[in-house]
Amino acid sequence: MSRVTLTQYLVEQQREHGHIPGQLRLLIEVVARTCKRIAISVNKGALGDVLGSTDSQNVQGEVQKKLDVIANELLLEANEWGGHLAAMASEEMDTIHVVPNRYPQGEYLLLYDPLDGSSNIEVNVSIGTIFSVLKKTGNHAGVSEADFLQCGRQQAAAGYCVYGPQTTLVLTVGDGVAMFTLDREMGSWVLTEENVRIPEDTREFAINMSNMRHWAAPMRRYIDECLAGKTGPRGKDFNMRWVASMVADVHRILCRGGIFMYPWDQREPDKPGKLRLMYEANPMAFLVEQAGGAATNGQQRILDIQPAKLHERVSVMLGSRHEVEHVTSYHQGS
Ligand code: AHG
Ligand code: MN
Ligand code: MN
Repeated sequence: MSRVTLTQYLVEQQREHGHIPGQLRLLIEVVARTCKRIAISVNKGALGDVLGSTDSQNVQGEVQKKLDVIANELLLEANEWGGHLAAMASEEMDTIHVVPNRYPQGEYLLLYDPLDGSSNIEVNVSIGTIFSVLKKTGNHAGVSEADFLQCGRQQAAAGYCVYGPQTTLVLTVGDGVAMFTLDREMGSWVLTEENVRIPEDTREFAINMSNMRHWAAPMRRYIDECLAGKTGPRGKDFNMRWVASMVADVHRILCRGGIFMYPWDQREPDKPGKLRLMYEANPMAFLVEQAGGAATNGQQRILDIQPAKLHERVSVMLGSRHEVEHVTSYHQGS
């Protein structure tokens, strides 16, 4: 069996379609390599002093787990020196990290959720890393937070790595979605799935049902109708899954379809949702759309949202296209 590695895939994509310039290729390879290092830490678990919390909080007021901090540092260090980046932003950093003067500045901006699904670390359930790549636009000197505030449709690349029974890297550079499995003996990423497609219809939803009483009416209506099953208005029985790691829930949807939702809820009415637009929703929406699915906030396409701030939150409904259109139609005009 001939094995295509990540490097070969990127080189061939560049040759055939010309949309992976050298700096972007280096960026993706550095992120992928760092995910291998994060995977090693994750796998060590209790043997590696990587479990448990730190005594610090991130900008969103969440207690940082040791692995949140480790993964953040690894990505930061690995991406500083290559000359491919102007700056980075992360869930675990209050503001952007500009590439220090001692290194050349590149034209890309990297955003990431270094460790997604932190509540699952200690219980040995799949967790992941999510990343989004933007290009600095305009030719002004320096870089500021304003350079990051671009719509998701402007992403040059996006992906995630899921640390589960297998370690899998899922990537889009705007030409479909490819999956790579980590070959631990060889230390390389091997292409194991290309042209990933999400089925348009599904009978499986993912949502934290314990929040149901706090949702808006359209969201409650949608789930009520799913729960009513075959004899209800939808005329079919639904199954439910909720890993509580967005990476793992989205990965399941890319593999076999489904719909994932994290809606607005009335406990924090001023926040549009729990998930973060720029390093959770945007990269996942890009991947899902590239696989033929849809992603909205109930009102509009996630990739069309103009961000106003780095750590902005958003409602998320993504996955199988017809199902996302269905739940979105309940929200529109409400
Ligand atoms: P993070 O660990 O990066 O803060 O993200 C956690 C997110 C997301 O991964 C997941 O879908 C959701 O929070 C889980 O929320 P519940 O605790 O409501 O299940
Ligand atoms: Mn997350
Ligand atoms: Mn996180």
